[in-house]
Amino acid sequence: MFEPCEKCKAEEARDEDGICPYVKDDDNLPLRCIGKWSEDKLDYLGRYMDIFNKAMKYKRPKRAYIDLFAGPGKCIIRDSGKIISGSTLIALEQSVPFSLIVSVDINSDAVSALEKRGGEYKSETKLKTFDADCNLIADWIREEVDPSYLILAFIDPTSMQMKFSTIRKLTDGLSMDLIINYPLQAINRAYRDALSGNETVFNDFFGTTEWKERILGLKSQYHIATKLLPLYKQQLGGIGYKDITELDSDKPFISDEVLVKGPRNIPLYYLFLASKNPLGNKLWQEVKKIRPDRQGQFF
Ligand SMILES: C[S@@+](CC[C@H](N)C(=O)[O-])C[C@H]1O[C@@H](n2cnc3c(N)ncnc32)[C@H](O)[C@@H]1O
Repeated sequence: MFEPCEKCKAEEARDEDGICPYVKDDDNLPLRCIGKWSEDKLDYLGRYMDIFNKAMKYKRPKRAYIDLFAGPGKCIIRDSGKIISGSTLIALEQSVPFSLIVSVDINSDAVSALEKRGGEYKSETKLKTFDADCNLIADWIREEVDPSYLILAFIDPTSMQMKFSTIRKLTDGLSMDLIINYPLQAINRAYRDALSGNETVFNDFFGTTEWKERILGLKSQYHIATKLLPLYKQQLGGIGYKDITELDSDKPFISDEVLVKGPRNIPLYYLFLASKNPLGNKLWQEVKKIRPDRQGQFF
């Protein structure tokens, strides 16, 4: 049905923002060039939005979605050329709609494409966009929502851009579920540099300097990022996200996250839910049971 998109295999398409320099959609707006695994990630996200909105429709009529790394709204899968909706458009397509969507991206081309695409939807959802580094505008985002909202936020960076202090500031005093892309590859690539003195990114990402002693205390430095996941979850526990997993687990692979793998089966990131409410975790378990290929999944 779809022609393979040979042009998307170009190296230039793999910039930090992932916008394809060659191929545009029929609307002549930019597309994000993605691998098949990103479609799987969006499948989990879309199904969580669906179950979240349907379960909370009557109890919490004011529901907001916050997309901190939103992209241009549409993506092209590089091996098939298939074009799919990105996270913000998936939120706009919900059959039980969010009342409000707040989308942020540091790339102004992405934000302007997203605004145009979002404007095409005849939806009762209000879409507010910010062309900014999400770490710099937590106060502005918070002006859009108040404690009367039930909120779902998606943290979908390309690397370790999400500062823990931003998560703390954004979530304080609010009912906000987080779907987090925990970037294994980025952490595994950067930890040696961090240990040699460039600590800022790690300190900012984990919101503590404890990562250092954890790494230095390890017998083997394989899978560092996975071994630091309990620290990240401990940090989330410290700001009210207590139910996410067995915090002391020495078997992080069989806890609550979905492991998303890329080419040659390389682990790329964990996707997991952090909720302050046990119901959020119950809903995530339902979502996790079904794999994107629609086979039952058992853990
Ligand atoms: C993995 S993509 C997000 C894809 C998007 N969720 C989707 O479904 O298409 C990461 C996005 O984050 C943006 N980005 C990178 N650093 C950022 C930052 N500090 N603040 C906000 N956006 C950022 C990039 O421009 C890129 O569009």
